[in-house]
Amino acid sequence: MPVGAFPRVDGALHAEGVPLGVIAAAVGTPCYVYSANSIRARYQQLAQAFASVPHRIHFAMKANSSLAILRLLHELGAGVDIVSGGELYRAHEAGFAGVDVVFSGVGKTAREIDAALDARVQLINIESEAELVTVAALARRRGVVAPVALRINPEVTVDTPHAYIKTGEKGQKFGIPRDDVERIGALIHELPNVALRGLGMHLGSQIANADPMREALPRLLQAIAVMRAQGHELQCMDVGGGLAVPYAPGDPEADVDEYARLVRDAVSASGLSLVLEPGRFIVAESGVLLTEVLYRKHAAGKDFVVTDAAMNDLMRPALYQAYHGIVPINITEGTVIADVVGPVCESGDFYAKQRELPDVQAGALLAVLTTGAYGYTMASNYNSRTRPAEVLVDADRFAVITERERYEDLVRLERAHLQWRTA
Ligand code: LLP
Repeated sequence: MPVGAFPRVDGALHAEGVPLGVIAAAVGTPCYVYSANSIRARYQQLAQAFASVPHRIHFAMKANSSLAILRLLHELGAGVDIVSGGELYRAHEAGFAGVDVVFSGVGKTAREIDAALDARVQLINIESEAELVTVAALARRRGVVAPVALRINPEVTVDTPHAYIKTGEKGQKFGIPRDDVERIGALIHELPNVALRGLGMHLGSQIANADPMREALPRLLQAIAVMRAQGHELQCMDVGGGLAVPYAPGDPEADVDEYARLVRDAVSASGLSLVLEPGRFIVAESGVLLTEVLYRKHAAGKDFVVTDAAMNDLMRPALYQAYHGIVPINITEGTVIADVVGPVCESGDFYAKQRELPDVQAGALLAVLTTGAYGYTMASNYNSRTRPAEVLVDADRFAVITERERYEDLVRLERAHLQWRTA
């Protein structure tokens, strides 16, 4: 965790200079809390690692798309990597211009492609021949030339902690199979409304080991050579995101220096500029989820800690059996081995199983760690639970950046009295 993001001062956990207990009292729980300086530090760490080559960090905003976080990254000079029309809308609201945007994703709709063309995004990452043809047709209708990159599937084996976050292996839905790149490159010459500006890849998420990148980069360079031989004037290569952060004690940390060295060498060899799409690395360790213990319970020989946060607020444990550290806000004597569970009516609604924890009682506040990425963005309203608030801390100040949803918000788009239509 970046130094100083969540320090313990006189026994009380803080976010930078603000006691988390103060935030919980002011805003309520559950509530995500982010450290602005931690996000800045992570961004700068990457920017420095790549300072010697032309590059741009396009934050993968699926990891955290709150407007204030996006605005903070915009101020630092980041661009964004988007995967939907909704993300394009958010990016625009946060101040990003079209040139700041690369558009990824395996199933872009015509409406989304039109919006991206209107916004003059810098790059549309193409994932299939059919998508290429669609982009060409929509660009033609608008009388524009769409700048595209081909996302190739480098077909390398990736060791991610969960199968759901692998993407760069053979047989996945992502990217263009290596064998098809040459044919699709030739096809682009027949489509005057698309210009091939780059080649890209994304190997997967939560990758701590540099080997997959070491294996994939030559394949990307080879595809770049093939495209150049076809006469395409490339400008950039995109290596995607995927840098790992540690969640559990003993988890390996991505070796940023080694990763950067490999990528910088490839960028220099290519003579292109570099696009990076990190999400998790920038924000994961910069956020915690604050929750209050509602009850302690003992059943069938087991101890349970029931919290007011649930799987709808943070999906990762239920969806990926992901580990998140859980610590009390105030130092607590004694320990207990317990399941930490939420109020949702599903046995998958747990944050930890048989975890040794401080012996916290009802009313205690807990911080669920490393939840700045894929936390709030994956939250839902399941069980008609309102999504939590989000708070940004900057040194000794804090601000609510997303209000807690209200019950009215839950039914805002619904109609109980129907206006029937007939065919
Ligand atoms: N670029 C592309 C094309 C991606 O698909 C992704 C993530 C990224 C960049 C950013 O990857 P990152 O640097 O954050 O690893 N919900 C899962 C993670 C899914 C990642 C999907 N793609 C989780 O909570 O672990």
